Amino acid sequence: MKDVIVACDFSSAEQVLTFLDKFASCERKPFVKIGMELYYAAGPAIVREIKARGHRIFLDLKLHDIPNTVRKTMKVLSALDVDMTNVHAAGTIEMMKAALEGLTREDGTRPLLIAVTQLTSTSQERMEQDLLIKEPIGEVIAHYADNARKAGLDGVVCSPLEAALVKERCGSSFLAVTPGIRFADAAADDQVRITTPARAKEIGSDFIVVGRPVTAAQDPVAAYLRCVEEFCE
Ligand code: C5P
Repeated sequence: MKDVIVACDFSSAEQVLTFLDKFASCERKPFVKIGMELYYAAGPAIVREIKARGHRIFLDLKLHDIPNTVRKTMKVLSALDVDMTNVHAAGTIEMMKAALEGLTREDGTRPLLIAVTQLTSTSQERMEQDLLIKEPIGEVIAHYADNARKAGLDGVVCSPLEAALVKERCGSSFLAVTPGIRFADAAADDQVRITTPARAKEIGSDFIVVGRPVTAAQDPVAAYLRCVEEFCE
């Protein structure tokens, strides 16, 4: 089922809990993304606290290291009972397989595991010049997505503009989790490959990840519900 994930990019437990308190009377409990900023500041305790408040959690730590380290780290994270977590596809198929192994609990259950393809802040030009990757960015993303599928992962993080391409290459049940979302009337910030919640729905995203358009809005609950209305309904 399609859902809106709110990227809670705050640097303290107090800030994120104050933000989430605003949703206390909201008819829908946001799916929350905890990224590096908050996790490094507030640690596993904040994950447990937000989970205890009844939110689903995407732990966005984008692991990228040697397979053995990623396997052991995922084993630690699997005890946190999050709903989704991720690695960089650039870490190779072997690393993604190791991540999946580490994340799978003894009873066979595990959170969804997805792979970052190319960050939505990366342009074709930067990929060519800084990373020395010369192929069209769409082809790179489709290839990374296919590697993630081969490793047994559930889907990828990609720009909404590439969701259709990913589905075409990897099948319709392979998840496209898409940041880079902006309302039609708003600023892009540092994101490059962006679109609106409504368009992300048309292209085939399964989850949109929305940060500043909600967290920095004057009325975050209204901004969140606008995303839900455009994307889920
Ligand atoms: O504030 P904004 O809506 O740009 O936030 C997008 C969120 O999605 C950030 O937390 C960012 O780390 C994350 N993200 C991204 N591009 C990716 C993967 C994750 O923007 N490819």
